Amino acid sequence: MKFEKCILITGGAGFIGSHVVRLFVTKYPQYQIVNLDKLTYAGNLENLKDIDKLPNYTFEHGDIVDENYIDSLFAKYQFDGVIHLAAESHVDRSITDPMAFVKTNVIGTCNLLNSAKNLWKGQMEGKRFYHVSTDEVYGELHDPSEFFVETTSYDPRSPYSASKASSDHFVRAYHNTYGLPIVVSNCSNNYGPNHFPEKLIPLMINNIKNWKPLPVYGKGENVRDWLFVIDHARAIDNIFHNGKNGDTYNIGGNNEWKNLDLVHLLCDLMDEKQGNPVGKSRELITYVTDRAGHDLRYAIDASKLMSELGWEPSVTFEEGLSRTVDWYLNNWDWIENITSGDYQKYYTSMYETSAN
Ligand code: NAD
Ligand code: DAU
Repeated sequence: MKFEKCILITGGAGFIGSHVVRLFVTKYPQYQIVNLDKLTYAGNLENLKDIDKLPNYTFEHGDIVDENYIDSLFAKYQFDGVIHLAAESHVDRSITDPMAFVKTNVIGTCNLLNSAKNLWKGQMEGKRFYHVSTDEVYGELHDPSEFFVETTSYDPRSPYSASKASSDHFVRAYHNTYGLPIVVSNCSNNYGPNHFPEKLIPLMINNIKNWKPLPVYGKGENVRDWLFVIDHARAIDNIFHNGKNGDTYNIGGNNEWKNLDLVHLLCDLMDEKQGNPVGKSRELITYVTDRAGHDLRYAIDASKLMSELGWEPSVTFEEGLSRTVDWYLNNWDWIENITSGDYQKYYTSMYETSAN
């Protein structure tokens, strides 16, 4: 079958990547979508089992840190576009193992940039390298009236955000130096189905269901701006197709929550949906030692994306959180396979090499 374009999506077996892959594979049957993923602890092909037999979807098991492999993949598929999401993504892990973040987030991104530059040399027209980044590169906010805009200076404060900031700089440097047609987006905290249960929202849902302590870092006063993952995927689709070459777009939900308030909300929602007396799960809240270098507040100003490209969130927080809790409760096998490690055993036998 002849496709109009061949697009590489990296990290498509992860949380956000799987929603992006699903959107592109179903919305654009004229595109061949190649999902490249190493299947680390965070990658889970079960996230894509509803679409993985579609004729325009292909999975490639590989590591973006492996330069020769990435070169051979670009030679094999002659990609027209790249949407790069593969990353080490958890701040706490970056504190205990920063070098894993340097390798994947910095070196891995540079390998993709190099292969794209070499493949597209002299024929950049119609090509696009989309780098998916985070609001954490801007550092933390203190003044409640302040928001991150696209021109806010970078001030990364964790090994994770420093590695993402470094990759953002490399992407822009390849545009400036070699004319690589790039676009970058910096998004706030996502939530939704298929979120790995080491992150705040799925961790709390899992612990409430299993009647385990709910670890709130410090006093629970840190603030995050939450966006439903499907709205992030919609923004990526919009920016990939309509974003200006070389430009940056902030994506956010204009939806700030103090961690403790959010945990209260989740407790009450879980009590309601599980038929427990409302307030019961709050008994599980346990204050634990704060994250080292814990950023106080993130808040995105997404007005550029809204006014220039017409994007806006489609799901309210109330609806999105309720849908998320329902998804976990209705797909409890998904989380049990992860917490028992079964999903990795399955993929190890399918794809030979073991996840890290
Ligand atoms: P995730 O950890 O759920 O998924 C990452 C995916 O990348 C996994 O499938 C993993 O197997 C794959 N991967 C990791 N290392 C790899 C390597 N060396 N080679 C190939 N594949 C590799 O992450 P996520 O939360 O879905 O985040 C996706 C992207 O979006 C990341 O770049 C992250 O920085 C960015 N982001 C995330 C959020 C958020 O709230 N989760 C917000 C803004 C931006
Ligand atoms: O802002 C975008 C970023 O959001 C992404 O770039 C990251 O990939 C993503 O992991 C997320 O980072 P955070 O550190 O904000 O997310 P996390 O879910 O780890 O934590 C959210 C807040 O909750 C943070 O203030 C730390 C706190 N927390 C987290 C956990 C896991 C707790 O209080 N207890 C916990 O057990």
